[in-house]
Amino acid sequence: MKKLVINGGKVLDGKIILQGSKNSALPILAATVAVSGISVIHNCPMLTDISAALKILEHTGCKIKREGHTVIVDSTSAYRCSIPEKMMREMRSSIIFLGALLARFGVAQVTPPGGCEIGLRPIDLHLSALRSMGVEISDCACVLACKAPQGIKGCHINLVFPSVGATENIMLASLSAHGETVISNAAREPEIKDLADFLNKCGAEIKGAGQSVIRIKGSAKLKGSEHTIIPDRIVASTYMACAACTGGKVAVSGVCKEHLLPAISAFETAGCNISFKNGELITKAPKRLSRIKSLRTMPYPGFPTDSQAIVMAMLATADGTSIITEKIFENRFRHVPELIKMGADIRIEDGCVAIVEGVRRLKGACVSASDLRGGSALAVAALGAEDETVIDNIYHIDRGCEALEQSLSQLGAEIKRV
Ligand code: UD1
Repeated sequence: MKKLVINGGKVLDGKIILQGSKNSALPILAATVAVSGISVIHNCPMLTDISAALKILEHTGCKIKREGHTVIVDSTSAYRCSIPEKMMREMRSSIIFLGALLARFGVAQVTPPGGCEIGLRPIDLHLSALRSMGVEISDCACVLACKAPQGIKGCHINLVFPSVGATENIMLASLSAHGETVISNAAREPEIKDLADFLNKCGAEIKGAGQSVIRIKGSAKLKGSEHTIIPDRIVASTYMACAACTGGKVAVSGVCKEHLLPAISAFETAGCNISFKNGELITKAPKRLSRIKSLRTMPYPGFPTDSQAIVMAMLATADGTSIITEKIFENRFRHVPELIKMGADIRIEDGCVAIVEGVRRLKGACVSASDLRGGSALAVAALGAEDETVIDNIYHIDRGCEALEQSLSQLGAEIKRV
């Protein structure tokens, strides 16, 4: 089992180039099977989740070529509309293939997806939306067999919660629908707009992505296209936290400032100086971070749940008491016991509120990553801590951050993979 060993206390200073967004690349790769022909996707990060998505595409009969950060998918001869359980279990995003396969073949067979254990993560919203579009779904021995004998019908879907995955699945399934599909209370995350931008380049007619009401005219003729994935706003916030935790200064180049506004505001409240010059976002840490009185995770454009653990690691050594409320997932504080092993003073109330009493310094310890962003948070904490931290189970980190140790070494961190 690979581990990260970090000798903390080094002030990070320098520049890194931001990777493409994992959460954008995954649904866009799934979408390449919904459209026929060749799609060229640039700025795909090199991550284990991306490899898992490519394996699913190959399984459906697509031909894949990977040239660095560019992935070429030829879906002309795709023929298989079922995905085996082993592939589905690799990650949560595998469920997005359901909408893509339905759009392409009108039938699909999948099993419930895997992914980080950060909550119940049901797919009821995905399935009820598909049912209202005329998809018949039978759930036998955990296999979801989906077909639309009368064809997929456009309709009005009001999501009770703006689920990112459900919005993506509906957008994909509605590509082949008869008539118009309207999604209200849709997720507004930048990754939704990126998916719509790719699909519109392929010939789809999607309006309103990035806003609460999305309209999709079905049955447009779709052909593969060329697209560049947006920058990863969550990884950007991870590097901002690395600067903040070590009293350093880090420039992240290739960011989209607008996507980062909710995170920037939290870093500024904590006393960081954030500036933006020539496409670079520069985070300069204060002598000591200030507390954030109250921080709540919310759907976009609120503060992202994916940055919660990272910011908590930073606030563990801030001056004063910070209160963080997790509003999206029920079980997203699994990094807390590990931060406590490093000397953090954090208590959880009502399962979703973390009260973080800032301590002067964290101390190195042996800790274990329990999920993707929680694992990155331990690396952030370790960079600012005294002595050596050993992080176990780093395959979680590898699912989201490309070449973390190379980037951090470049900034002056003492970090190695053993
Ligand atoms: C996506 C992101 C993930 C991010 C999350 C919220 C990807 C690959 N993953 O996950 O990094 O943390 O958005 O921004 O893009 N829910 C239901 N029923 C459903 C669907 C969701 O109850 O059918 C609940 C979930 O359990 C969770 C909340 O809604 O509590 C948000 O989930 P959702 O927005 O769907 O997140 P994902 O698409 O899984």
